[in-house]
Amino acid sequence: MMSQEQNDLITRVGPAAPCGKLMRAYWQPAALVDELEGDRPIRPVRLLGEDFVLFKDEQGRYGLIDRDCPHRGADLAFGRLEGGGLRCAFHGWLFDVEGKCLETPAEPAGSPLCANIKQRAFPVVAKGGILWAYLGAGEPPAFPEIDCFTAPDTHVFAFKGLFECNWLQALEVGIDPAHASFLHRFFEDEDTSHAYGKQFRGVSAGSEMPMTKVLREYDRPIINVEHTEYGLRLIALRQIDDERTHVRVTNQLFPHGFVIPMSTEMTITQWHVPVDDENCYWYAIFTSYTQPVDKVKMREQRLELYELPDYTSRKNKRNDYGFDPHEQATSTYTGMGADINVHDQWAVESMGKIQDRTREHLGQSDKAIIQYRRLLRQEIAKAEAGQRPLLALDAAAARGIQGPATMDGIGPSRGWETYWMEVDVKRRRGAPWAAPVPAEIAAKVPHLTAAE
Ligand code: FES
Ligand SMILES: [Fe+2]
Repeated sequence: MMSQEQNDLITRVGPAAPCGKLMRAYWQPAALVDELEGDRPIRPVRLLGEDFVLFKDEQGRYGLIDRDCPHRGADLAFGRLEGGGLRCAFHGWLFDVEGKCLETPAEPAGSPLCANIKQRAFPVVAKGGILWAYLGAGEPPAFPEIDCFTAPDTHVFAFKGLFECNWLQALEVGIDPAHASFLHRFFEDEDTSHAYGKQFRGVSAGSEMPMTKVLREYDRPIINVEHTEYGLRLIALRQIDDERTHVRVTNQLFPHGFVIPMSTEMTITQWHVPVDDENCYWYAIFTSYTQPVDKVKMREQRLELYELPDYTSRKNKRNDYGFDPHEQATSTYTGMGADINVHDQWAVESMGKIQDRTREHLGQSDKAIIQYRRLLRQEIAKAEAGQRPLLALDAAAARGIQGPATMDGIGPSRGWETYWMEVDVKRRRGAPWAAPVPAEIAAKVPHLTAAE
């Protein structure tokens, strides 16, 4: 259990909050690249408790500037894209992507007013199908060379969705290996050949066993947590019998991401990005190590649940997430349908806007969450002291962060420690794009990587 003060420290992300300062040391997903396509590439963006407007000017440059017009505060998200920037619809003041005021057309000709006006503006880059913004001071960090940023555009697909709760409880479901055996339990296994684009619906690598069966029947995983240069590695073990053990390797990517296997061919890199203290977007990049991603299908699958323009879920607390007591009695653990995103959404939103951690009771299965919170507090203190927190890297250091390895498979009960690395290395070596084997892993399975 923690005090209210401790809970506030690790959840609140406004500009004056210590954790807000930490978050501002990193690039943050601000929108999908898709959102700034189309006839009118202007989107309001609320990020870390602040309001901005994101736009693409006539030359294709991205800008993120404060949303309230510096003249008399009207909303720039209703502005006009013209004249080399974004023009306020109230009196026509015009701003470029750097926040420079270019025109104040109602002022007398030759007025110098413009020269003294500067709207706050932030750098924006497109990477992996996401537009990233840097809200911090000084030089932004470099992007690590992890798979989702290394794979070609054909092999990645990005999407997002809104959770109406604080970012931390949303992240914590991603570093909780035990919940999948309960929250995502299906009483019967589906035909695994229809698993494309869905999590936990295929077979575990090295077996014919559907993941749904593994999760359902082996519900007390042993969880190992290791500290890495990018955050944490979680290894969840489910012993099937004396010979065979199910191994699932996932990662916490500091500060608010995780990297997990989706299927034998794809991983999910997902960030829980604070809109403000009480809402967050998950942004995910799906990365394929085999065929190009079927983006049309992936998008269609996800648009069944999420509604544009704000990527809000059709199933939510206003309609009890589609809860059906008969289904709960006969086919799923939650009674909320087959889409596991809905299960996770219910779990994290039902805790309340900001989970009251003064009332929680953690167990052994919450091990990774406990370690993560410790790490978070440590890095908040670093940011407070003006030091670079974990994974806020310069270009040379960022090049050394590769992978990270993920896998879900059934291997030997004796020797699982290297088995999972072998599975990951083989997948990388068979990939049609250069998926680097992280140095730390290469050193541990030299018989597979010696040829490199
Ligand atoms: S309020 Fe924007 S131009 Fe006047
Ligand atoms: Fe989940």
